[in-house]
Amino acid sequence: MLNDFFDGWKKFPSKEKHFKSLQNSEFKILAIDDVTNKVIGFINAISDGVLSAYIPLLEVIPDYKNKGIGTELIKRMLEKLKHYYMIDIMCDESLQSFYGKFGLIKSSGMILRNYDKQN
Ligand SMILES: CC(C)(COP(=O)(O)OP(=O)(O)OC[C@H]1O[C@@H](n2cnc3c(N)ncnc32)[C@H](O)[C@@H]1OP(=O)(O)O)[C@@H](O)C(=O)NCCC(=O)NCCS
Repeated sequence: MLNDFFDGWKKFPSKEKHFKSLQNSEFKILAIDDVTNKVIGFINAISDGVLSAYIPLLEVIPDYKNKGIGTELIKRMLEKLKHYYMIDIMCDESLQSFYGKFGLIKSSGMILRNYDKQN
């Protein structure tokens, strides 16, 4: 059911790895097209179970974008995470206004990416 994700990634995880990363995530929400039975969007979150949660990925596949699915996924995830002190997402600057609509604020951070492990 997991096709067409990681749009635009140079190297991307296999469907098996995508599935495993969802399985291992404490929280995950899937959007499924009832007619095709395809997953058309997903969001996941990992956490320490007490104070902090991190949302690594949110994606809606191209044919289903701009229909409110991404909005619904982030809203539902933030509702699940509302008891945590810190809820973090890293995103491109262009997406800051999107996340701003849900109460997230701009911050600064540092990241490390091992691109040879991307897939
Ligand atoms: C970001 C994303 C999840 C939004 O999903 P969606 O179902 O299309 O979102 P919605 O229909 O609920 O809302 C669309 C809004 O997102 C905005 N948006 C989507 N992609 C954007 C981008 N790259 N930069 C800025 N704004 C973006 C649209 O302009 C629109 O804004 P509006 O409501 O003010 O018109 C989707 O575009 C996607 O999967 N993008 C690629 C992966 C990605 O960037 N994920 C976020 C990782 S942090």
